[in-house]
Amino acid sequence: DQSLTPYEIIGEERLSALVNAFYNQVAKHPDLIEIFPDDFTETIRKQKQFLTQYLGGPSLYTHEHGHPMLRARHLPHVITPTRANAWLQCMTVAMDEVGLEGDLREALFHRLSLTAQHMVNTPDRAE
Ligand code: HEM
Repeated sequence: DQSLTPYEIIGEERLSALVNAFYNQVAKHPDLIEIFPDDFTETIRKQKQFLTQYLGGPSLYTHEHGHPMLRARHLPHVITPTRANAWLQCMTVAMDEVGLEGDLREALFHRLSLTAQHMVNTPDRAE
């Protein structure tokens, strides 16, 4: 049905499983772990809210936190191209784990790649 949003296609349960699986990867990724808090509870809760609205579901994130302003909210964190790639790598594993496949996966991953690039605020060290 073409009138379904990506959020409706993926479903609340699978989106929740995706975000849980994603932060499970982030928590053990050497390039990412140092910039995240020890306790992921709140991060996971916000990301579920954010991705719900990003995929066309209810505006849960904005309702509680205001405009996402994602790039601004990421400025306190050092986000290099290496870290953006690591983030996307964690998302790839999470998508595999929850069995997200096909057009929906392709479209979501493509959009997340663009958003991740947009979050980069620091170059990799030239060595
Ligand atoms: C928050 C890192 C990309 C969405 C955060 C936080 C870090 C972080 C360290 C703070 C966690 C906390 O204190 O709870 C990164 C890195 C990225 C990246 C390294 C690599 C490019 C993205 C992308 C999205 C996103 C692509 C959107 C799909 C969010 C959201 C929050 C967040 C919604 C919570 C903001 C808030 O505090 O309200 N991110 N992020 N991030 N990130 Fe990212």
